[in-house]
Amino acid sequence: MFDRRTFLGSTAIGMGSLTSLDQLSEWFSAFAKIRRPLVIATWNNKKAVETAWDVLKSGGRALDAVEAGARIPESDPEDTSVGYGGFPDRDGFVTLDACIMDELGNAGSVVFLEKIMHPISVARRVMEKTPHVILAGAGAHQFAIEQGFKEENLLTEKAQKALDAWRIKSEYKPKINVERHDTIGILGLDQNGDLSGACTTSGLAFKMRGRVGDSPIIGAGLYVDNEVGAATATGLGEAVIKKVGSFSIVEMMRQGMHPEKACKAAAKRLLTIKSKDEFQVGYIAVNKKGELGAWALRPGFEAAVITQDGFQLIKANSIF
Ligand code: GLY
Repeated sequence: MFDRRTFLGSTAIGMGSLTSLDQLSEWFSAFAKIRRPLVIATWNNKKAVETAWDVLKSGGRALDAVEAGARIPESDPEDTSVGYGGFPDRDGFVTLDACIMDELGNAGSVVFLEKIMHPISVARRVMEKTPHVILAGAGAHQFAIEQGFKEENLLTEKAQKALDAWRIKSEYKPKINVERHDTIGILGLDQNGDLSGACTTSGLAFKMRGRVGDSPIIGAGLYVDNEVGAATATGLGEAVIKKVGSFSIVEMMRQGMHPEKACKAAAKRLLTIKSKDEFQVGYIAVNKKGELGAWALRPGFEAAVITQDGFQLIKANSIF
């Protein structure tokens, strides 16, 4: 029996102290056997997973849970990588990307959305109210307004100051582990055993105007297959898109790979990318059994997990 004390003990010493991949798999499997529902999110998004958990613990649908969770950093002005307060592009505009998938294989996405606080909810409306999967830019904004979303200024004073400071040198480089929260990807497994996922971001700080990352791209930033599992990504979107990261993890799980091994394999594939700058990518995954995985290219990546036994912060292993 893998009780709470054992689990907390394992976590307290950190994933880094578990030496073999087999040990890690065992750890995650044992963890999962006694846990459904559950929520896992990229980075230390504690409040987001707790909010999602409130939906799941009362028998709610995973889709409602992940949307509710993703909305937390979207409206947090202190989170500089997501929604309101997100750092702008180099021309001073906050542009948002988000996508969502449900247990039926439905998907909705918005890219290059401006002045709307909750892109994840607009993405859900795209999924549920339109015949399309992706709406972009002005069209996405028009749709959001038609759906009753309010237009708001999302550029905070803190974000404007950061842009002013960046403009002095105007040197564009990806930042590793941006303030340790970066994009939020959140996956939920509900009491029925159904999976859903959401992913939302303001993208890379000081990006070129019009740049879209992996987060709203189905298969790159997020993929859910209710027969198999779900995966999501954080970090340098260009790298995740090139490797179709989340889809590849789900496909590896379909072949029987444990989520932990699948995340590691997907992180390893990033090594073939030629880049003049160092970059970070982190992956998380969950399968139908509730087994979990988290792996990154570089150290520093964390995943927030919540189950009936409470909140845990997992320190992910990394390729480097
Ligand atoms: N992963 C977020 C982005 O690159 O936009």
